[in-house]
Amino acid sequence: MTALPEERFPSRRSRTGPSLCHDGAFVERPLTMREVTEDDLPELVRVDQEAFPDDPYPYFVLRQLCDLHGDCLLVLEDGKSLHGYVLYVTTRDGYRSWIVSLGVTRDQRGRGLGRRLMLEVLRRLRGEDVREVRLTVEPANAAAIMLYRSLGFSSDEGVRHDYFGPGEDRLIMTLGL
Ligand SMILES: CC(C)(COP(=O)(O)OP(=O)(O)OC[C@H]1O[C@@H](n2cnc3c(N)ncnc32)[C@H](O)[C@@H]1OP(=O)(O)O)[C@@H](O)C(=O)NCCC(=O)NCCS
Repeated sequence: MTALPEERFPSRRSRTGPSLCHDGAFVERPLTMREVTEDDLPELVRVDQEAFPDDPYPYFVLRQLCDLHGDCLLVLEDGKSLHGYVLYVTTRDGYRSWIVSLGVTRDQRGRGLGRRLMLEVLRRLRGEDVREVRLTVEPANAAAIMLYRSLGFSSDEGVRHDYFGPGEDRLIMTLGL
C-alpha cells in the first residue's frame, strides 16, 4: 500500500519501533502511516485495549467504525504490528471534524507517534477545507492535553460534566483551521 504524503517529511524524532531480531538484540523497524484495512482489526483491537485499558471499544464497534469510516482511520505500523491509530469523522456539511479516538501503544509513547498521527489528520482536513476540529479529553489526561495544546487546540468551552454519562466529565477542545 502507498505511504501517505507525510512520510516524505520524517519527524525529527525516531520514526521507528523496536523489535527483537534472531539474536535477541533490538532492531529498529521504520513506521509507515496508512489507512486501516479489514486485516488490521485484531491488531487494532489490541492497540485500542492497550491505549484505553479501562474502557476499550468492543470488537464489534471497531469493526463497524472500520466499515463506516476506514478512510478516516489511520494506523502506524512497522510491517508486523500496529503501534498507534487515530480516527476522525467529519460532519455531513463538511464544516467540522471530530477526533474520535487517538491511541499509541504504551511502549511507543513519547516518541512522536501521537503528534505524527494528529499532524496528518490536520493536513488532510485543511486540504478538505474543513473549518474546525473538535475533540473531547479526560480533564486529568495531561499528556493528551499537552499534545492538543501544542497543536493549537484551545479549551474555551471548558469541562462538560457527565458528557459521556454519570461521572464521565470531558474537556472540549477546539481548533480553527
Ligand atoms: C496521548 C497519546 C496519544 C500521546 O501520544 P505520544 O505518541 O506518546 O505523544 P508524542 O510523543 O507524539 O508527544 C506529543 C506531545 O504530547 C505531550 N506529551 C506526550 N507525553 C507526555 C507526557 N507523558 N507528559 C506530558 N506531555 C506529554 C507533549 O506535549 C509532547 O510534545 P513534546 O514531545 O514536543 O514535548 C498517548 O499518550 C496515548 O495513547 N495515551 C493513551 C490514550 C489516550 O489518552 N488518548 C487520547 C485520548 S483524548
